Amino acid sequence: MNCQQPTATADFRLIITSDGSHTLYVPSLNEHYHSVRGAVQESRHVYIGSGFRYICKNMLHDSLKILEVGFGTGLNALLTLLEAEHAGVEVYYEALEKYPLPMEVVAELNYATASGLPDKRLFMRLHSTAWDQQVCLSPYFTLHKRLADLLAYEPEMLFDLIYFDAFAPDVQPDLWTEAVFRKLYECLCPGGTLVTYSSKGAVKIALRQAGFNLWRLSGAGGKRHMLRAVKSGITVPAGNS
Ligand SMILES: C[S@@+](CC[C@H](N)C(=O)[O-])C[C@H]1O[C@@H](n2cnc3c(N)ncnc32)[C@H](O)[C@@H]1O
Repeated sequence: MNCQQPTATADFRLIITSDGSHTLYVPSLNEHYHSVRGAVQESRHVYIGSGFRYICKNMLHDSLKILEVGFGTGLNALLTLLEAEHAGVEVYYEALEKYPLPMEVVAELNYATASGLPDKRLFMRLHSTAWDQQVCLSPYFTLHKRLADLLAYEPEMLFDLIYFDAFAPDVQPDLWTEAVFRKLYECLCPGGTLVTYSSKGAVKIALRQAGFNLWRLSGAGGKRHMLRAVKSGITVPAGNS
């Protein structure tokens, strides 16, 4: 990361986005955790709609392994848990996070209300579960949060779906590289899919170089595009674009 990563409560500002849901602004990075045009709307569009539901429509079994890059506020995890229960799909959800948020910051987030839950207990449980352990939170959702740096992470299984939700390529260029995408390509099942909110040219090039087939889809909340990257099943040798 180019700038110093925040870890203290005072390093984050709570912002209300256009759909009424919160996001966090990090002044030292000049970066938000989500789109200011709607955090919940963005998560539903990019990760649930274009990722989870897309995979569920095309899969032959009723269980899914998902890897998230950047657990952060836990919004994607919460919406996935709710969707898994709704769809009756068993989800194993592994989420990487190098810099967990302070609990006082998490406790301020309105994601339980914004996703129609009667109280915050489930959302807070996502955060209070231990790191580096598999925890079964419901018959349909097992969470494994890994306190890990994506750059050093060594996957132990194949995933069906990856939510790539790092800070923007301009802020964290070291995470949006061919080498990183190649590692993620290799830990996907054949036909496995990666979704991300960014459709920047350099990101498309790096994903293609890693071997992915790309689909540019309409973005969330008026944003022009997002990407869906699908593993073809053929491993491309390093350096071959
Ligand atoms: C754009 S935020 C999104 C987080 C989350 N998906 C959410 O909905 O809140 C990116 C996240 O990636 C985390 N992160 C940054 N560098 C990382 C790294 N090298 N490995 C793993 N996570 C990282 C940040 O701490 C932050 O929580």
